[in-house]
Amino acid sequence: MTSQAPAEPIALPATTLAPRRHVLDLDDFSRTEIDIVLDTALAMREVLDRDIKKVPSLRGKVILTLFLEPSTRTRVSFEQAGKMLSADVINIAGSGSSAEKGESLLNTTLTLQAMHADLIVVRHPQAGAPYFMARHLSRTGIINAGDGRHAHPTQALLDLMTMRRHLGSLDGKKVVIVGDLLHSRVARSNVFGLAAMGARVVISGPPTLIPLDLSRTSHSQGSLGGAAYEPDLDAAMDDADVVMALRLQTERQTAGMLPSVREYTRRWQVTEARMGRAKPSALVMHPGPVNEGIELSSSLAHGVASVIEEQVTNGVAIRMAILYQLLTGGELQTA
Ligand code: CP
Repeated sequence: MTSQAPAEPIALPATTLAPRRHVLDLDDFSRTEIDIVLDTALAMREVLDRDIKKVPSLRGKVILTLFLEPSTRTRVSFEQAGKMLSADVINIAGSGSSAEKGESLLNTTLTLQAMHADLIVVRHPQAGAPYFMARHLSRTGIINAGDGRHAHPTQALLDLMTMRRHLGSLDGKKVVIVGDLLHSRVARSNVFGLAAMGARVVISGPPTLIPLDLSRTSHSQGSLGGAAYEPDLDAAMDDADVVMALRLQTERQTAGMLPSVREYTRRWQVTEARMGRAKPSALVMHPGPVNEGIELSSSLAHGVASVIEEQVTNGVAIRMAILYQLLTGGELQTA
């Protein structure tokens, strides 16, 4: 019977990551390590196309997801990735957990480790929370699924995977990141990852939504991981290989950061007219969720240059790759 047939082996790359227990950001990933993750994810992606989307690689492993901020893509894809690799995945939300009764993050962390979880995937509103948890864990690993405005390493990895599938090597490629950089953990992790892969990053957006180390320096002399700042979006778009719009994070903004959403849309929305300045083959990306008609026009979001849905698919493959590499070091049976 089909259900009893052994799963087809996954064609994994021969090289594996050096042993690590946590993934907190991309600033400690070398180019070689990023390539290993992307190659592993490419192999994992093939499992998504199977009728039976399950392989036994992580049988017996326990993964907890602890999401103390809203999420659709990241939470569901980690759960899907773990289940496709046959791990037991248990989801914990803030609401309904003892965090609601005032339990400290330290005690929650130690409690989950005491249950012999192998990995905790955490999203937290406070920057640094996953680092704090990692410091207090002796056995269990931590994956940062987004901490405040600080980092979102698996999002950056799935973005790199999507770019590499379309563009090949990212060496010298021009990637324009537009919008609310100040509050974007996605942009920060992407800047580290893109720098490691040899891409050229240009950032654009209102000065009030650009981190000080970029906006203070003279235009195009910014220093966030070697990224350049160009406040004029039309100029920034010239010859771009990739244009990544960011969500306007109104929930994290304080009064006075923007004259109005209408003004923002006029000056910094990624539109078809502006894409005309990028290379004809340029990709339109967005980490999601998209405020359509604000940071990105609806026609572009759903147009032929958009790879937004592919980013989501690659997100499952990247999370499979990270879970697999962390929990096995690439050494367990793959079929
Ligand atoms: N890109 C991203 O992190 O989306 P979610 O908030 O839906 O997980």
